[in-house]
Order: sequence, then C-alpha cells, then structure tokens
Amino acid sequence: MKVGKLLVSASGKVFYVKSLDSDYHTQLGFVKKEDLGKAGDGGAVRTSTGKELFVLSPAFIDSYSKIRRGPQIIPLKDIAAIIAFTGINKESVVVDAGSGSGALACFLAKIVRQVFTYEIRDDFAAIAEENVRSLELPNVTVRRKDVYGGIEEKSVDAVILDLPEPWRAIEAAANALKVGGFLVSYSPTIPQVADFVAAVGKSRSFINLKTTEIIERQWEVSERKVRPKSAAIGHSGFLSFARKIKA
Ligand SMILES: C[S@@+](CC[C@H](N)C(=O)[O-])C[C@H]1O[C@@H](n2cnc3c(N)ncnc32)[C@H](O)[C@@H]1O
Repeated sequence: MKVGKLLVSASGKVFYVKSLDSDYHTQLGFVKKEDLGKAGDGGAVRTSTGKELFVLSPAFIDSYSKIRRGPQIIPLKDIAAIIAFTGINKESVVVDAGSGSGALACFLAKIVRQVFTYEIRDDFAAIAEENVRSLELPNVTVRRKDVYGGIEEKSVDAVILDLPEPWRAIEAAANALKVGGFLVSYSPTIPQVADFVAAVGKSRSFINLKTTEIIERQWEVSERKVRPKSAAIGHSGFLSFARKIKA
C-alpha cells in the first residue's frame, strides 16, 4: 500500500492515510480532508470526537510496515541481528532465499548495494515483486528459481536463508559466497537448526560461528507504572551464522 501521510496519536497509535482527497475515518473519529490538506508536516488535526492527531510524512519504515503479506515475514529484531552480526553495508551484495513476501529483501535493499532474492513459487515471487515496486527499490532482483538447484551470483558477501530445508542450500551458498562471506539461516524450529548446523559442520566450505535467538521485550512506561508489557512478543526463529573458508 502506498502511504500518503501518517496520523499519529500522542500515545503512538499510527493511522496510514492513503489519499488526502477524502475524509479519513479512524476509531477515534474522522478527520476532514480540508484539515488533512492544511496541516503541515508535524502539525496537529482534530478528529470529529476532538482527539488530537499529528500529521507526518511516511519514512521508509512506515511504508515497509504496510507491504503486502503472503508468507510469514521475518521480524525486525531478527533483520537487525543479521545486519549487525554480518556487518553488511552499502558495498555489499547479498543473496536471500526464499523471497516469500520479500520483506527481508526489501529491508536489506536500503542497507546494501544489491540484493538477489530467490523464490520457487510464482505467486509469492509476484508478491515480493509488487512490494519491491511499491517501495521503489531498484537494487532488488527477484529470481523465480529453486535455490537448492544453485545460485547464479558469485563472490557475494552474504547468503541469507529462510527456507524449510536450509541444509539443502549449503552447497549453492558455498559456490556463491566469497571467502570470508557469511551464510545465515533463519529457522523457526530447533530440529531445522540441528540439521542445518550438522550439515554446515560436515561441509568443508564453512566454519560454524554461532546459533542465537533474539528476544525482544517491550515495556509499558506510564508515570510510575513501569513494567514489561503483559502481551509478550512470541517466538519467531533462531539465527545460525557460518563463514565461508577456502574449500
Ligand atoms: C517464510 S518464507 C520467507 C519470508 C521472507 N524471509 C520474508 O521476510 O518475507 C519462505 C519462502 O521460501 C520459499 N521456498 C521454499 N523452498 C524454496 C526453494 N527451494 N527455493 C526458493 N524458495 C523456496 C517458499 O515458497 C516461501 O515463500
């Protein structure tokens, strides 16, 4: 979804306004289109029930949060860990598989030089392509291919797997990565992690670095009521990191 403007309440509730050509309805009342047009960036408008909302232009993260969802996307906390532990940056070329909704590919495109993302299913590749287009990311290429069969790119800085059987992509990753490059696997279950790490261990192309789980705990801060939020963020997945060596 293309986001025109954001309406944000003082408590942080965000409404995504697609078009400024009509009144915008929220559960806090509606905002007249004339008021939406008049309020500058950061300015306030009032809803029909008198609630104050602030108008902001969308940043990348706002548009990203509204991408079309097909398969389950990887959460931001895990994307952050992938970027932090591999150090991928504006000079890096990265391969990602499977694309799924293209969430990881789209986020990485804002960080690295080039992203190649592999997806076996045409319907999911179409969703990923739509998201790449709507976020206007020229440096993402979606490849409609089975990544277990091989990766076209060579000498890449990182290969990131979010696949049901990541161990089946280890050979393809070894052929695509430059020496010193990172192989990362994101899996929701421990049997997948065990099989992946065992296969990496048998491969002569990688040294195993670590498997980790990132746990995010949000807090409620309201005057002296300062405590972890009651609704905890549930389990997402485990991240395993390996590094390419000279075979
Ligand atoms: C959980 S989704 C990936 C989500 C993605 N990381 C995101 O953030 O949007 C897993 C995807 O892997 C794809 N997939 C499964 N096996 C594959 C293969 N051999 N080659 C390429 N893609 C594959 C599935 O079709 C699915 O879309």
